Amino acid sequence: MDTLPFDQPDPHLLQELEELRSQINYHNYLYNTLDQPEISDYEYDLLFNRLKEIELTHPELITPDSPTQKVGAKPSERFQKVQHPVPILSLSNGFGPQETMEWYRRLVRLDAEVEKADFLLEPKLDGLTVVLHYENGVFRLGATRGDGQIGEDITSNLRTIPSLPLRIPVKPGITAPEHIVFRGEALILKEDFTKLNAELEAKGEKTYLNPRNTAAGSLRQLDPAVTAKRPLKLFIYQILSSSEPIPESQADILDYIANLSLPTDSIRWHARDIQEAIKICESQATERHKWPFEADGIVIKINDQNLFNRLGYIGKDARGAVAYKYPGEEVETILLDIQNNVGRTGVITPLAILKPVMIGGVLVKQATLHNFDFIAEKDIRLGDHVLVKRAGEVIPYIMASLPDKRDGKQPPYTPPKTCPSCASELVKDPEAVAWYCENTNCPAQLNRTLENYASRAAMDIAGLGEKIVVQLTEADLVKSIADLYTLKKDDLLKLDKFGDLKADNLLRAIEESKSRSLQRLIIGLGIHGIGEVSAGDLAKQFKDLDSLANASIDELQNIAGIGPNAAQSIAHWFAQEQNKKLLESLKSYGVWPIIEDQAQDDTPKPLAGLTFVITGTLPGMSRDEAKSLIELHGGKTSGSVSKKTNYVLVGADAGSKLQKALELGVPTISEDDLRQML
Ligand code: IVH
Repeated sequence: MDTLPFDQPDPHLLQELEELRSQINYHNYLYNTLDQPEISDYEYDLLFNRLKEIELTHPELITPDSPTQKVGAKPSERFQKVQHPVPILSLSNGFGPQETMEWYRRLVRLDAEVEKADFLLEPKLDGLTVVLHYENGVFRLGATRGDGQIGEDITSNLRTIPSLPLRIPVKPGITAPEHIVFRGEALILKEDFTKLNAELEAKGEKTYLNPRNTAAGSLRQLDPAVTAKRPLKLFIYQILSSSEPIPESQADILDYIANLSLPTDSIRWHARDIQEAIKICESQATERHKWPFEADGIVIKINDQNLFNRLGYIGKDARGAVAYKYPGEEVETILLDIQNNVGRTGVITPLAILKPVMIGGVLVKQATLHNFDFIAEKDIRLGDHVLVKRAGEVIPYIMASLPDKRDGKQPPYTPPKTCPSCASELVKDPEAVAWYCENTNCPAQLNRTLENYASRAAMDIAGLGEKIVVQLTEADLVKSIADLYTLKKDDLLKLDKFGDLKADNLLRAIEESKSRSLQRLIIGLGIHGIGEVSAGDLAKQFKDLDSLANASIDELQNIAGIGPNAAQSIAHWFAQEQNKKLLESLKSYGVWPIIEDQAQDDTPKPLAGLTFVITGTLPGMSRDEAKSLIELHGGKTSGSVSKKTNYVLVGADAGSKLQKALELGVPTISEDDLRQML
C-alpha cells in the first residue's frame, strides 16, 4: 500500500485512543487511589487490551502519558517514597487458550529455546503487590509497587501481618543472604473476609465491598493499629534481588523462599509444555472457586529463570510469563426489590433481590447492599440495571447501577422509617452507618437471637434452624432463649411437620446443649460486638457468667483482646433487667458452665522461667499491656537485652534493643508469636 509520509492518522482512531486513555485513567484512579472501582476487572482489561492493540499497530501514536506506559497506582503523597531495586514488572493477559498460544508463539519466534521450555503455574492472586527488603535476615523495609519504579513505604503496616517474619530464617540451619528483596501479594482470604464483615455487621458498622480493596485499603492506612485488625495474609512468589546466587527455576525458587520461612502459596502446578499448561488452566476454571482466596486467573511462568530473564520485557510486561485470565464473574441483571432484614441486635440490613442470573456456574438471586448509605452513594434504584459480582464463596454484591439504562420510571430509593417486623420507628446509630429497631420485643430480633444461640459456633443445637425457630416463636412456645429448655414433646407435636422422631431429636439436642462450654454460651448470648474470639478471651478469665456479670468496665478492658467498646457493651448487656432474668432462668435449667480450675494456681504457666524485653510499637496492645500479659503467664520482663534474655518482643520502629538482640543472637518474636506461646 502506498503510504504518504504526511499521511494523517484516521480521526476515528485518534478519537477512540483519546477516549480509551481518559476512561482508563479514570478507572485507574478509582481502583488504585480510591479503592472504589466502578467497572469489573474484566471490563477494565478489555479497555486496556484494546488500547494496547491500537498502540501495537500504531506505535507512532504512543504518548508518554498513555496508561500503557505506567504500572499501578501513583504513589500517594502520604507515605515516604521508596525506589525499587529493579522495575516491578507486570504481566500481559491471555484470555483463553487462543491468546495464550499467541503469546507462546511470539516467544518461540524470539527464542527457539522456548520450544523446549517447561512451565510453572501459580494462581494469580488478587491483592496488593508488596516488595520486602531483608538485610542480614532482618525485615527492614516494605513497599507498595506504586508506579513500578517508586513505591510507598508501608513498613509499619506490613510488620503487623502475622505471617511476615521480622527475621529470617525462623528455622535454624540456613543463613539468609546479606541482602535479599522479595515480591509477593498481600491479601485477605475469602473465609476471613466473610468473618470480618459478619463481625462488622453485628456491630452495625460499615461492611467491606470485597477482599481485594479491603486488603489494599488496610495496607495504605496511616495507622498500623488499624492494619493490625485486618486479617491480612501474605504469599511470596519472586526474588527481585539477592546478594547470593538463587535457584535457577521458578519451582526451586518457591521452595527456596519457603525454606527461608517466608509464606508461599502451596497451590501450584508444573507443566511439561504449553499444551499441558493450558489444559491445567482450563481444568481450574471452576475448581478455582474452591481456592481460599480470590484469583482471576493463573500465571503461566517459564520455569527456567535463565531463559525467563533472557526474554526480558516489553513495555512494562515481563515476556516470560502470562496471566491466563478467566472471563469476568461480573454480570448485569435487574434489581427487582430491596428486602430489609432485621438482625439480632436490631440492625436493619438491605438485601438486593435480583432477576436470577448465572455467575460462575451458580444461580444468583440475591446480593448484599451493605447499608443505606451505600445505596444512596451509588444511587441504586429499584428496577435499575445493576452490575453484580460473585467471587468464589463470598456472597455476591452489587458493584454499581447503570443509570444510562433507566427509562425514567426509577425514582431514588427511600429507606424504610419503621421496622419491617414490628413497625417500631427506626433509630440511627450516631457513630455508625446502621439504622436500628430498638424494640427489645421485636419478633425478628428474637428469631435472630435464637438462631445465633443454636448456631454451630455457639450452643450447636442440631435441627434448630431458621424455619423451626419461626415455628416456635409464632406458636408463642418460645419468647426467650431460656424457654427452649421448657419445651414439651406435646407442644412440638402440634407443630406442622413435627412427628415423634423430629420432636425427640430436637429435645435431645436442646438437652445436650446444657453441657456446652462457657465460651459457646457467651457467643450464644449474642452480646453486641462479642464474637468467637472475644468470647474465648472472656471465658479464659472468668469462672462463670456470674463473675463475668460482676466484672467492672475497667476489669473487662484489662483483658487482652477486649477493647473499650466491647467492655461497654458487655457491661450494658448484663445490666439489662430482662438479661438478668434470662441468666437466672438458664441457671435454674442447668445451663451454667463452670470452669472448675480457674481459681487454682497450680495450672502450668507457659512462660515460666522466660525473660522478655519489649521494644517498638506493638500492633494490638501497649507495652504495659504486653508486660502484664507476660507476667500473668509466669514470664518476667526486663528493660535491657542481655545474653540472659530469652526473647525480644518486637513491634514497629524498634531501635537499639532490636539491634542488640541481633548482635547477641537473641530470638525476636512478634506480638502474634507471643499470643501463640500462650
Ligand atoms: S509474577 C515478572 N505471580 O499480578 C513477574 N504475579 O501484573 C510478574 N500477581 O499485580 C509477576 N499473583 O503482583 C506473579 N503468582 C503470581 C501473581 C502475580 C498475583 C499479580 C502481580 C501483578 C499482577 C501482574
